[in-house]
Parts: sequence; structure tokens; C-alpha cells
Amino acid sequence: MADSNGYYDLDLKRVMVLDNYEEMSKAAAEIVINTIKNKERTVLGMATGSTPLGLYGNLVQGYKQGKVDFSNTVSFNLDEYVGLDSGHSQSYNYYMRENLFSLVNIEHDHVNIPHGFSENSDKDCNEDCINYETKIQQSGGIDLQILGIGNNGHIGFNEPGTSFDSITRKVKLADETIKANARFFDDESDVPKYAISMGIKSIMRARKIILLASGIEKAHAIEKTVKGSITNMVPASILQLHPEVIYIVDKDAGKNL
Ligand code: GLP
Repeated sequence: MADSNGYYDLDLKRVMVLDNYEEMSKAAAEIVINTIKNKERTVLGMATGSTPLGLYGNLVQGYKQGKVDFSNTVSFNLDEYVGLDSGHSQSYNYYMRENLFSLVNIEHDHVNIPHGFSENSDKDCNEDCINYETKIQQSGGIDLQILGIGNNGHIGFNEPGTSFDSITRKVKLADETIKANARFFDDESDVPKYAISMGIKSIMRARKIILLASGIEKAHAIEKTVKGSITNMVPASILQLHPEVIYIVDKDAGKNL
């Protein structure tokens, strides 16, 4: 049974199982808006993928209705593909501009997205990753991190097997992730093989985390994340050790809870 706030209490974990994608997106937007309202300056951790699109739509609507002001918000995105420039329609830079940043009043220089370097520039890439991590700390750390989840339990692009001590770095995408993300590209061979991703440690440093999941294909990953043992073979399972995480899922994704 859900309590009066809509939370299911699974061994003290905060889980909201909502009727559908729209309800999931609205609940997430409410948390983001309240976080921004209650702080003078908010540092948000942003996610991409299809899951947070509804959340971003609700944030844009909230902004247009005068319910939220992004002028004192700083953002750090979780990840970016390697090898796609910011103008590429499948880059996460483009995604964020199209779906949120160009539609609200966030300051251009408050937006941070890992730089998708070319496949060969590992040296610049390492330096940039360290700078990204430093900038998060210098901004005061992430107040609220938004997460989606891969079918294999990945968060950001932290694939199964990733060390829980990882920070922002270049990562190789798992074959299953390349297959899952092929739907956004003309051909599977066009999906980048590498990405820059904040690490598990970077994510766990956030003060509060909301993880969103929708659809039956996420049910297994959500079950293992919320109720399974904590293992780096299911990267999201580490969230069980975070003091302030809320899992917001629709009925299908929450089917096995
Ligand atoms: C990508 C992203 C993740 C995202 C995941 C799920 O690989 N790097 O941050 O959570 O896919 O995507 P979707 O929401 O489209 O299912």
C-alpha cells in the first residue's frame, strides 16, 4: 500500500509506483521544481534518454506558467557520446538544448555537458574529465541528480562491471547499450562505441537522487536495482546505499516490486 504521499516503503527505500509515464514525469517535475524553489541556487545533475523527456516537458511548462525560474540553476549532464559534435542531432548536447535549455531561462554559462571528443584524443579527454569533476565540486556539488536506467542496470554510461569508485572518464559502451540506443540512429553501426560519463562515485556524491523508469523492458533492471544485492554488475544497485534516493517508476517498470 502506498502512504499518503504516494510512497511505497520497501525496507525503507522510497519508491513511487505511478500509473503511467505522464504521472511519473509530473511527480519528478514536482520534486525538481520544489528543489529549485527552496534553494537560492540549485545544482542539478541532468540525464538524457527517452525517459526524462516528459519531465523536461513538464519543467518547460512550469517555467512558462511562472512556477519555476532557472536563472539561479547550474546544470551538469551525466554523459555525452564520444565523436559526435554538439550540433549532431543525437548528441546529448543537442538533446538538452532542444528539450530544455533553449526553452527555459537557464544561463548559457551555467550549463555543463561533458565534451564529446574525437575517438583519438584520449589525452585531452582525460584532462577535460578531471576538470569536469573539479567544476562539479567547485560549484558546491550536485543538489539533485536525475537518473534514468539502462535495461542492463546502467546509470549514466556506467555499464555493468564499472567500479563503484569511478569518476568522470571515457567509457566503452556495452554491446547491449549500443543495440538499445540504435533506435535513435539510422544504423546500429552509427552508434558511438565510447562516451564520457560521470562515474558512480560522482553520482553518489549528489545530495539527493531521483531515478526514473518507465516500461516493461525496465522491470527486471528496476527489480534488481531496488531489491537485488548490491553489485557492480547492476550499477544502479549502489543507490541502495544512498541516503536520499527516490525511485519513481510507472506500473510496468515497477511490475516486479
Ligand atoms: C542511455 C543514457 C542513460 C539512460 C539510458 C536509458 O544509455 N546514457 O543515461 O538512462 O540510456 O535510456 P532510455 O531512457 O531511452 O531508456
